[in-house]
Amino acid sequence: MKICMFSSKAYDEKFFSLNNSNTSEQLDISYFSSHLNEETVYMAEGFDVVCCFVNDNLNANVLKTLKKQGIQLVALRCAGFNNVDLKTAKELSLPVCRVPEYSPYAVAEHTCALVLDLNRNIHRAHNRIRENDYSLDGLLGFDLHSKTVGVVGAGKIGRAFINIMNGFGCNVLVYDPMLKETNADNNFTQVTFDELLMQSDIISLHCPLTTGTQHLINTQAINKMKPNVMLINTSRGALVDTVAIIKALKLRQIGYLGIDVYEEESEIFFEDLSDTFIQDDVFARLQTFPNVIITGHQAFFTKEALNKIAQTTISNIQNYLLGKPEDSNLVS
Ligand code: NAI
Repeated sequence: MKICMFSSKAYDEKFFSLNNSNTSEQLDISYFSSHLNEETVYMAEGFDVVCCFVNDNLNANVLKTLKKQGIQLVALRCAGFNNVDLKTAKELSLPVCRVPEYSPYAVAEHTCALVLDLNRNIHRAHNRIRENDYSLDGLLGFDLHSKTVGVVGAGKIGRAFINIMNGFGCNVLVYDPMLKETNADNNFTQVTFDELLMQSDIISLHCPLTTGTQHLINTQAINKMKPNVMLINTSRGALVDTVAIIKALKLRQIGYLGIDVYEEESEIFFEDLSDTFIQDDVFARLQTFPNVIITGHQAFFTKEALNKIAQTTISNIQNYLLGKPEDSNLVS
């Protein structure tokens, strides 16, 4: 079986090669650095399975071409599937599988790193010390203990983050209209979205991007937040209206912003653009605020997570090809 992997990096190849060599039914994997989109879909010709990541664009045209080429399975090596037109995939009977869980701890811990860095101005302190500036003005933080943290989406990552923030002695509020598990540890209070916005000192987003959650954080939502609130988004960029966020940062309605994801990240993240100019003026404006930290979609990026991603993707593909779709983590 021939697999073509799009958006592949050296670290993907390393973890996939290692896990592939450990299986009895080895896959024949070709690694392509290009994103999958309408311009590059021709590269999938002659393969049986395409393996994709978060910024590959599997729109209706791409899916139709893949089907015509004889692709049997789209294997996502990520949890989110907002970049796939699932309706078209279903109409074409083109199955799509994913890695529903690899390390909720990786993302939750990175979220916590953003909170701590923003609060205690670690990024600014680091730069100052390198310049022999040991002054403390402008670095004042606050105790996390007794602060209220609002978590939007208490799934696997949201729960891991709640546990960490409990450890700091925070009160945790949760908004999740589809909460499946009970609050067995009694470590958060369920509230409405508006209550969460109005009462939280720190708000962290951990829900999926859907048509219902696009721009969940817009001007209207921001106006309900406490002044100087800290907003963290390690979920998906389009959950927030970035232009509205910039306005609120300028007015100091939002006091701190930590993001690992950005609405238009597919043109920017995962690449070395140090020899070019950023053409996206909204992103460039975000980079100018001292109280904004941006990381380039790296929250998932731990050894444990990469290993689990490779392991699960390979077993999803093998199970599907062996006629065990029920063990393939299919989403359509
Ligand atoms: P999950 O499916 O376990 O949890 C998502 C939770 O969000 C569920 O409890 C669900 O009921 C809730 N939810 C759905 N709609 C909601 C709404 N309108 N308002 C509030 N809550 C809502 O997913 P998991 O594994 O916790 O991942 C969450 C998100 O994290 C993913 O959708 C993905 O976008 C993002 N992610 C980011 C990564 C990164 O590297 N930055 C890596 C992995 C995931």
